[in-house]
Amino acid sequence: MRPRAFIVLAILSSPLISASAQSVPSSGSPVQSSATSKFHINSQRLQRTIEKLSEFGRNPEGGVTRLGYSDTELAADQYVIQLMKQAGLEVRRDSAGNLFGRRAGSEHLPVLLFGSHIDSVVKAGNFDGDVGSLGAIEVINALNEQAVKTRHPLEVVIWTNEEGNHFGISTMGSGIAAGLLGPEILGRKDEQGLTVADWLRRYGQDPSHLTDARISQGALAGYLELHIEQGPNLEEAKIPIGVVQGIVGLKRWRCVATGFANHAGTTPMDRRKDALAAASRELLAVRDVVRAESGRQVGTVGYMKAEPGAVNVIPGRVEFPIELRDLDAAKIDRMWGLIQEKLKQIDKEENVATACTPLDDIVPARTDIAVQAAIREAAKSLGLTTMDLPSGAVHDAQQMAKLAPFGMIFVPSRDGISHSPKEFTSWSHVANGAEVLYRSVLLVDTQLDGK
Ligand code: GLV
Ligand code: MN
Ligand code: MN
Repeated sequence: MRPRAFIVLAILSSPLISASAQSVPSSGSPVQSSATSKFHINSQRLQRTIEKLSEFGRNPEGGVTRLGYSDTELAADQYVIQLMKQAGLEVRRDSAGNLFGRRAGSEHLPVLLFGSHIDSVVKAGNFDGDVGSLGAIEVINALNEQAVKTRHPLEVVIWTNEEGNHFGISTMGSGIAAGLLGPEILGRKDEQGLTVADWLRRYGQDPSHLTDARISQGALAGYLELHIEQGPNLEEAKIPIGVVQGIVGLKRWRCVATGFANHAGTTPMDRRKDALAAASRELLAVRDVVRAESGRQVGTVGYMKAEPGAVNVIPGRVEFPIELRDLDAAKIDRMWGLIQEKLKQIDKEENVATACTPLDDIVPARTDIAVQAAIREAAKSLGLTTMDLPSGAVHDAQQMAKLAPFGMIFVPSRDGISHSPKEFTSWSHVANGAEVLYRSVLLVDTQLDGK
């Protein structure tokens, strides 16, 4: 570490912090402890903004449905833009629809980028993405209040369509920024028949300029993301901060099983071409293949759409996705090979034809060792314990892996629940995460030279 780190540690425990800028987590078990545990971020302000954001797309269950590329996300963006401007950030939207807010640095260096997403899955909670997005803006507020200048320019990013519930492509905004997705996706249609290009126009963008959103190699010094864990490990171990070692990759396919729709009362059992029976066996085959491997790999069939969908008609067509995830891309490919063999066998036995086309492909990514160390050091300076763990959820951070060293900070999820209105992280854990982000930004700012 360079000598500047000494200055940063001094800033982190600085008595210059004004009383108004310090804050005490407002609920949940107090997990920060030592006398040096001064909070630079304002936890009440952060809670207020997360609660306000939760009004955009609110469901009767208390969570939100706020899909990427939707009117709801656009409305929420307006709120976030207002927060960014209040924090003094220079705001811009890129041609993919991602939002950026910039704070100048004191040296001519590449950007240190941090943020998350505010789009959600269908019937989501209020923490996935929101904590890291508004936590990032809170970090800027805290830096302003402490009058801390960083060497690198800082940018807060709010990625669009991280969840990919719209158009079936996860980490879509960051994937475009990383150059992995390009004009080939513009014609992809959603269920209303609107294309990606149509939605970009609604976001005020010219689809023919999509590739302008690409971030060039060398433009980023590093990337950080604060996120809820979305699993049970931190809560069970009573550890407030997770240091992510790596993020799983995933592959998705859209499969269509085609049989023959026929009369349910008159077609003998041995003469049927029942697409739903075949698809159901195929779902179980996916589970069997994934379970047969040792390790943490997962496989999911998230829905089935059977047609024509009547009580007295044998289903003639079923559409379903297959999703496989693991930290090892080769294992995903191996499992897919085995699944394809099983599908062929089942098709033969059921007299049905199943065809699968690739839908999404995100490679696994390992976090940077030095950034991991900075996060650990940031947590330690606050008196917080840490756990190293992998991420089973995908994140925009892994797209940034192509461009810069990156790291992720996790905070506990109650009962390990996420992608559900029941998703919850106590405000004290949220505050801890944002403060660790603040401290990590400063540590990384001293350690990276952008080369
Ligand atoms: C996003 O949260 C995902 O892992 O699908
Ligand atoms: Mn997320
Ligand atoms: Mn999610």
